[in-house]
Amino acid sequence: MLKYFRDCLRPSSPSIPPLQYGILFPQFLAYLVHLHFGDFGSLVISVTNFYLSMNLDDSVEEPEKKECSPVCVGKEDNIKKSGRMTAVVHDREVVIFYHKGEYHAMDIRCYHSGGPLHLGEIEDFDGRPCIVCPWHKYKITLATGEGLYQSINPKDPSAKPKWSSKGIKQRIHTVTVDDGNVYVTLSNEPYKCDSDFYATGDFKVIKSPF
Ligand code: FES
Repeated sequence: MLKYFRDCLRPSSPSIPPLQYGILFPQFLAYLVHLHFGDFGSLVISVTNFYLSMNLDDSVEEPEKKECSPVCVGKEDNIKKSGRMTAVVHDREVVIFYHKGEYHAMDIRCYHSGGPLHLGEIEDFDGRPCIVCPWHKYKITLATGEGLYQSINPKDPSAKPKWSSKGIKQRIHTVTVDDGNVYVTLSNEPYKCDSDFYATGDFKVIKSPF
């Protein structure tokens, strides 16, 4: 019976017009049914309207789909000259670095607190090129997006601090060059990166016009 009432609301439904009006104007229908069936009829109408208000068209919200096709972000010559550039790739802000003959692309906002990585300096730590976030100086490897930190064994005060990895924190994207053009392909790795938080939802500041 519920299905019947729900079908009545679909625009293509050939159902009886008075019933459609009745569902759209529940008080009217309740009055009609009450005349014929008494209080039990009114109860059925109330329950039906509650059901319809909960889920009228069976729609289920689709999760955000990720676009992963390569996007041209600029000319090779220009990026080599400037050493870095920013781009919006499928609605995601990224920074592209050209460092020591290699390209690297990553989410533009730092995984720690959303700092602007395109304004950071590149330095080597433990022999690994890293972008140093200008806000709180976190170090992120260009090649893998790992967060590096220095650790010391508290039980051995004489030991020198050594560089360790927190694991992959910043999402790294793929850069390819074709015929003088530089392309970025967004990472489709299923793991969750901390930087995702600042690359999506409310923190995503720049939106693609497409
Ligand atoms: S926001 Fe980058 S280190 Fe804090």
